[in-house]
Amino acid sequence: MVAVLDTAVHFRDMLLADIDDVMAAEVSNYDFPWSKQIFLDCIKVGYLCRVMENAQGEFIAYAIMTAAAEESHILNISIAPAFQGRGYGRDFMHFLLDEAERHGSKDIILEVRPSNEIALKLYYSLGFMQIGLRQNYYQSYDGREDAIVMLLKLQA
Ligand SMILES: CC(C)(COP(=O)(O)OP(=O)(O)OC[C@H]1O[C@@H](n2cnc3c(N)ncnc32)[C@H](O)[C@@H]1OP(=O)(O)O)[C@@H](O)C(=O)NCCC(=O)NCCS
Repeated sequence: MVAVLDTAVHFRDMLLADIDDVMAAEVSNYDFPWSKQIFLDCIKVGYLCRVMENAQGEFIAYAIMTAAAEESHILNISIAPAFQGRGYGRDFMHFLLDEAERHGSKDIILEVRPSNEIALKLYYSLGFMQIGLRQNYYQSYDGREDAIVMLLKLQA
């Protein structure tokens, strides 16, 4: 897959110095955010932890993915609220799909809440298909919420 990316943004490794920006976006975007320690652990164990910033060096977004030959798994993708709805989520997904292909992945999977209509629209538009449902996977205010498991085949 050849990504058509906004050339005004670039991607780089997530650094410890990014954690405050990451946590600010995480807490704004999710009712049940990851802790700072989870991000530190993801960096430590060598998951693909990337940040998107613009030409002015402003922090726009971050994503975490495990990348492996059989399968890559997007664990988190999050655009800072001020930058949502401007195409950056799509750009970041293309970047992740390219990274997964570069690692030789045959498939890329992710989980998403059924209530997350914007994310679902984005993933379906990229060709992801629902392959399963993990029951009671997520915390929610009224009990638990299922996770839709989605997969995109990267190689024939
Ligand atoms: C979900 C998320 C990653 C999408 O990124 P984004 O930069 O906001 O989205 P984009 O501008 O790239 O738009 C991508 C697609 O999402 C959908 N979309 C975006 N904003 C939308 C809105 N306000 N209403 C409906 N659909 C919307 C559209 O299908 C859009 O494609 P199109 O513009 O070609 O129609 C981002 O909103 C986000 O970080 N949300 C909070 C965290 C989150 O939910 N992460 C995903 C967890 S699974």
